[in-house]
Amino acid sequence: MKFYILTLFPEMVMQGLSASILGKAAQRGAIAVEAVNIRDYTKDKHLKVDDYPYGGGAGMVMQAQPIFDAYQAVRERIGYVPRTIYLTPQGPVFHQAMAKAMAKEEDLVFLCGHYEGVDERVLEEIVTDYVSIGDYVLTGGELPAMVMVDAISRMVPGVLTNEESGLRETFEGNLLEYPQYSRPKVWRGKEVPSVLMSGDHKKIEDWRREQSVLRTKKYRPDLLKKADLTIKEKAVYGVNEI
Ligand code: ADE
Repeated sequence: MKFYILTLFPEMVMQGLSASILGKAAQRGAIAVEAVNIRDYTKDKHLKVDDYPYGGGAGMVMQAQPIFDAYQAVRERIGYVPRTIYLTPQGPVFHQAMAKAMAKEEDLVFLCGHYEGVDERVLEEIVTDYVSIGDYVLTGGELPAMVMVDAISRMVPGVLTNEESGLRETFEGNLLEYPQYSRPKVWRGKEVPSVLMSGDHKKIEDWRREQSVLRTKKYRPDLLKKADLTIKEKAVYGVNEI
């Protein structure tokens, strides 16, 4: 999977995505990240990439030409029209199932906007998906692009090692993850739940399942309604009353 990130801040994106698990995955060739500097494509002699909005109003608007040319350079290189995501609070909110679906693409292009926005005409020309990462407004699309690249990469085969990828994790079946403990057995007077030291795998599995459901009920009752629960679990945890 290769990610192309069209941005005015290539260093920010590359630095954020070259550490830790994603950095190692890139070294192994499981993913590749390329930040494409939109400014490299401007035809303006002062390297300008933005201008005042027609109709007036505050702020500047990113112009169509440099963005389009940056996109075309990628598109010509890969030889087909790629899925192209514009990060904007106006899009549907990103979630795990979207990450999983997008991880199936060969290439993904992200367009990071700045200032007051991007000339609508270039969005119409190149964007296939509008995506928000949540109901708040950020100063640019770089952080949202990095969030998406991280979540999508985790779903690409070969990015997580077996150990990292544990099948049961938060949002699998719309349940939050159960609590985890490591050594020591007692820390600041708090003991690790004894069932985890019982060696009884069935009991441990049941306890973890229960913890997942209880946590989801407490912190994300909205998710619990969509969770994969048995009829018995639904009755025991009062899911129908939420
Ligand atoms: N750009 C600014 N805010 C954003 C958000 N919440 N999600 C995606 N892109 C954005």
